[in-house]
Amino acid sequence: MKVLIVGSGGREHAIAYCVAKSDKVEKIYCTPGNAGIAELAECAPIGAMEFDKIVAFAKEKEVDLVIVGMDDPLVGGLVDELEAEGIRTFGPRKNAAILEGSKAFSKDLMKKYHIPTAAYENFTDPDQAIAYLETAKFPIVLKADGLALGKGVLICQNLEEAKAGVKEIMMDKKFGSAGNEMVIEEFMTGREVSVLSFVDGNTIKTMTSAQDHKRAGDGDTGLNTGGMGTFSPSPFYTKEVEDFCNQYIYQATVDAMKAEGRPFKGVIFFGLMLTEEGPKVLEYNARFGDPEAQVVLPRMKNDIIEVIEACIDGTLDQIDLQFEDNAAVCVVLASDGYPVKYEKGLEINGLEEFDQHEGYYCFHAGTCKKDGKFLTNGGRVLGVTAKGKDLKEARANAYAATEWVKFENKYMRHDIGKAIDEV
Ligand code: AMP
Ligand code: GLY
Repeated sequence: MKVLIVGSGGREHAIAYCVAKSDKVEKIYCTPGNAGIAELAECAPIGAMEFDKIVAFAKEKEVDLVIVGMDDPLVGGLVDELEAEGIRTFGPRKNAAILEGSKAFSKDLMKKYHIPTAAYENFTDPDQAIAYLETAKFPIVLKADGLALGKGVLICQNLEEAKAGVKEIMMDKKFGSAGNEMVIEEFMTGREVSVLSFVDGNTIKTMTSAQDHKRAGDGDTGLNTGGMGTFSPSPFYTKEVEDFCNQYIYQATVDAMKAEGRPFKGVIFFGLMLTEEGPKVLEYNARFGDPEAQVVLPRMKNDIIEVIEACIDGTLDQIDLQFEDNAAVCVVLASDGYPVKYEKGLEINGLEEFDQHEGYYCFHAGTCKKDGKFLTNGGRVLGVTAKGKDLKEARANAYAATEWVKFENKYMRHDIGKAIDEV
């Protein structure tokens, strides 16, 4: 089978790694990919939003299956366009990807179907938003409705900050049209857990849990980023939490989407907060998480192609999804200055070490290759992942492996997985 993966980050590298392990796969393509993915796949310089070119490429190469990794093309309807040409595709159609594409939609869905989430109101008029804030309790959370690279969420401590936030999102349009509508929601406290799941429209099978570290600096300080590291499983995702989510969140979401005439096929990522009142949904994403995929997928025992085909064919109930009884930690190596300003084009050395060690992975995010050398080509450069028999061992292994990699301006957090010590 020939498989095309759409995307260019560490998540897509982790997907490509799993796809390459499948006996069913003879050839992998990736658009646009990166230098790490290029070791496993033939990459073509087509942007993820160049739908016509992607469709033409898939036809020309006679691709049997397309896997869309990124949110923008999913929300924009790439799956619909590929399917219209008869190309088998893994990912939600546009009318289902709205689960991630519109926070106002997802909040209304949760309210309508009694899925636990923070109390909220949606606004399209900034004056009404400000009037609401004048009587609200603080801190409070403002969210741009649409996709904003994970940066459209503002936690405001007082009315002044909140008013500035409304201006930023709805009037100055800092996140573009994503700010045409805004959600204002109750501030919650608790541990965050990411749970990814495979969904075939009816059946949902959750994967092992993970936890991300979104802030740039140690101790959860600094700006929000795309994610600076992850661990899996989360020790806070207990049997009790899982049972609750099975009963009130996971299947309820799939059933709600079906009832709305928007059957969801693909990956639903549940961003959960474990509050004192029980688990609540912080957000939905319509794809694998990044860098959650980098710790979840290497632990999956199943052939990813079998699982993906079952999602497309509606036979996921026949799949026994299994994960290894171990742990994994991913530490992101970024360019110093990320997420604001950073240099690119610096030579990366030491990557060959990963070929010598089983259970260690270096997933590329922002890299390219020139004259046979790997160069940095983005803010998040690499995701160094290691397994271990438990989280402590995995963390020690991952941090040891970060030492193998050398590039100027290398930056990482040193406390990925610190929460493990509290268990
Ligand atoms: P989101 O993109 O909706 O996941 O929000 C990004 C981050 O903002 C989350 O991972 C949380 O850390 C934080 N956040 C979002 N919503 C809330 C909330 N209602 N209460 C507290 N923190 C929140
Ligand atoms: N790690 C969070 C995300 O993929 O959105």
